[in-house]
Amino acid sequence: MQKKIEELKLSFKASLAEATSAEALEALRVEYLGKKGHVSALMQELRFAEDKKTAGQLINTLKTEVEEAISEATEALRKAEIEAKVRGAKKYNPTLRTSEELGSYHPITLAAREVEEVFISMGFTIENYSEIVDDYHCFEALNIPKHHPARDMQDTYYLDNGQLLKTHTSAAQNYIMKKYGAPLRAIFPGRCFRNESIDACHENTFFQLEGMMIDENISISNLIYFMKTMLSEVFKRDVKVRLRPGFFPFVEPGFELDINCAICGGEGCPSCKNSGWLELCPCGMIHPNVLKEGGIDTEKYTGFAFGLGLTRLAMMKYGVKDIRDFNSGSLKALSQFKSN
Ligand code: PHE
Repeated sequence: MQKKIEELKLSFKASLAEATSAEALEALRVEYLGKKGHVSALMQELRFAEDKKTAGQLINTLKTEVEEAISEATEALRKAEIEAKVRGAKKYNPTLRTSEELGSYHPITLAAREVEEVFISMGFTIENYSEIVDDYHCFEALNIPKHHPARDMQDTYYLDNGQLLKTHTSAAQNYIMKKYGAPLRAIFPGRCFRNESIDACHENTFFQLEGMMIDENISISNLIYFMKTMLSEVFKRDVKVRLRPGFFPFVEPGFELDINCAICGGEGCPSCKNSGWLELCPCGMIHPNVLKEGGIDTEKYTGFAFGLGLTRLAMMKYGVKDIRDFNSGSLKALSQFKSN
């Protein structure tokens, strides 16, 4: 009997080593501890054994050993399964990008940066100014008193407190003159608003980039030189320009600087109102009243100012036919600028 028990122990050990799944372990448990299992069979035999006492103890030990071994093996198997799952799972990596889909810069931002770079290289600073301004900065300080007909061109959106959404970046001129005094070289891009009927070339929300240079002996030739340098750098092509007289109460003399339409090559299209030319950059010599209002000594200093149509420039540069694309939020249109 004792020999038989020893043999069973050995065969159990061998089978246990081979049982590598939960099912196999359960089958082994049934084989040894089940109603018709080896241990029960031994108990039956025990009745007829001579060495009842020793054999009985041995059977009990075998029983506990089998029970413990199987539950240990089951537990080990469960742990191994969990570890395998953890190992197989994707680990958290804080340096990984959450998405492959990157955004892109807005074409107006890209155009502004190009112009800014050119002016930075010529010693200009870049200024910032708010979008909500008061009547004084937007009009009165610019030689546009109340009821002046020039205001009709720049109807805008008014707030209850009398402030308004700025109609042009010139609204920052007085503030910047007072901030720095002369001599002065500054550009200031900004979002502007006008109460406009919207079509392919008019928007109620658009961008301008204003520039001012004030120093001794500044003349129209300086103005033309800076405009030409900037445009040839930005367009990287031979840009045809034409100067026409233009009226703005804050410059004297005032000009309209047009460039030939890059979209139709000068033949005429909706973007250039079929004229082949696009008004891109109104400009002129700063009116003495405006300089005085900004605290600049007009005996000593003169200066020029220009108001580049940044939205228009982006249309020209990137061949955007419809101004409405810029504010549409359409990713189809805007994501094309990804590679820039
Ligand atoms: N502020 C003018 C406009 O928006 C443009 C301009 C700027 C004209 C500077 C002359 C000098 O129409």
